[in-house]
Amino acid sequence: MAKQCNVAVVGATGAVGQQMLEVLAERNFPIKELRLLASERSVGKFLEYNGEQHMVQLLDKDAFEGIDIALFSAGGARSEEFCPIAAAAGAICVDNSSAWRMDPEVPLVVPEVNPQDIAQYGKKGIIANPNCSTIQMLVALKPLHDAAKITRIVVSTYQAVSGTGRNAIDELRIQSGELLNGRPADCEVYPHQIAFNCLPHIDVFLDNGYTKEEMKMVNETRKIFGDDSIGVTATTVRVPVFYSHSESINIETEKKLSAEQARELLANAPGVRVVDDVANLEYPLAVDAAGQDLTLVGRIREDESIANGLNLWVVADNLRKGAATNAVQIAEIVLEKYL
Ligand SMILES: NC(=O)c1ccc[n+]([C@@H]2O[C@H](COP(=O)([O-])OP(=O)(O)OC[C@H]3O[C@@H](n4cnc5c(N)ncnc54)[C@H](OP(=O)(O)O)[C@@H]3O)[C@@H](O)[C@H]2O)c1
Repeated sequence: MAKQCNVAVVGATGAVGQQMLEVLAERNFPIKELRLLASERSVGKFLEYNGEQHMVQLLDKDAFEGIDIALFSAGGARSEEFCPIAAAAGAICVDNSSAWRMDPEVPLVVPEVNPQDIAQYGKKGIIANPNCSTIQMLVALKPLHDAAKITRIVVSTYQAVSGTGRNAIDELRIQSGELLNGRPADCEVYPHQIAFNCLPHIDVFLDNGYTKEEMKMVNETRKIFGDDSIGVTATTVRVPVFYSHSESINIETEKKLSAEQARELLANAPGVRVVDDVANLEYPLAVDAAGQDLTLVGRIREDESIANGLNLWVVADNLRKGAATNAVQIAEIVLEKYL
């Protein structure tokens, strides 16, 4: 990549923002000027990028002057307010929040699945990054959908606390220490103890009894696959794991796929690593997925209760492929094709 551009990282001090800086540096993203933005709390702090210290500046309406690409991970309210301001100043925004994902004028993109949709960024100047749980599920299901057309997905998630941000990482760490020392655990980020516990509750509850996280998996899957007929039902669970989300996925397909055929399709799919050797006790693990970008897929089995069904166990790093890496991959395509 010979071109260089000016990049703003909005929410640079957060769990995703920090990972964004690491991924940009690792992938040698050609940055001319890097602008780190956050709230008043962080103004004046220094963050390291590529061995150099950069001062955090305030996210305000003048922060996007001269910026070509703005990578947002500062929460939905900030994205709702500032993506249009950044776009009006000439930046192309890649947004990690849920604010713009279901807007029909905003493409929702997983580069391994629907990179062609990036071409529609021009209506609002915004490209949305899907929910972390949706991204890894669709990276794994895309080759199976192409080969056999998935008609229904039943998914249960086991999601790491880093998906809630840096305060939740601290909460699990502190609660674990307190409880192991026989002291009571304070709950601030989650409504119940997360250490040594599982919470079947991610994001807010909706009128239909599902959580917003569960409905994100339903609606985002349909938008990204471009198929409103696909049945999706989800149960999303927070577990006491620091990094990487795990998912148990059951699919029904129009055409029969054997486990062996699925394994072969997945072995050749972009962004996937098959880890499926139970004889040697090898299957995807959160600790192995953390810190790298591939979506690990294993425990591939035919569902013996239906004619055309498969079960899979899918694991990926939620801060990397589920957020920062997916956003930087989108930014790389934007830079190559649209700047
Ligand atoms: N964690 C994940 O796995 C994940 C995955 C996909 C998408 N996301 C999305 O990414 C976003 C950030 O998540 P996170 O996990 O990184 O959260 P986090 O660790 O809590 O970080 C939040 C970031 O937002 C900034 N911020 C908060 N209020 C602000 C304000 N009023 N003005 C400017 N900046 C403000 C914070 O800056 P200060 O340091 O100044 O407070 C910090 O940089 C959320 O929208 C989340 O839904 C997260």
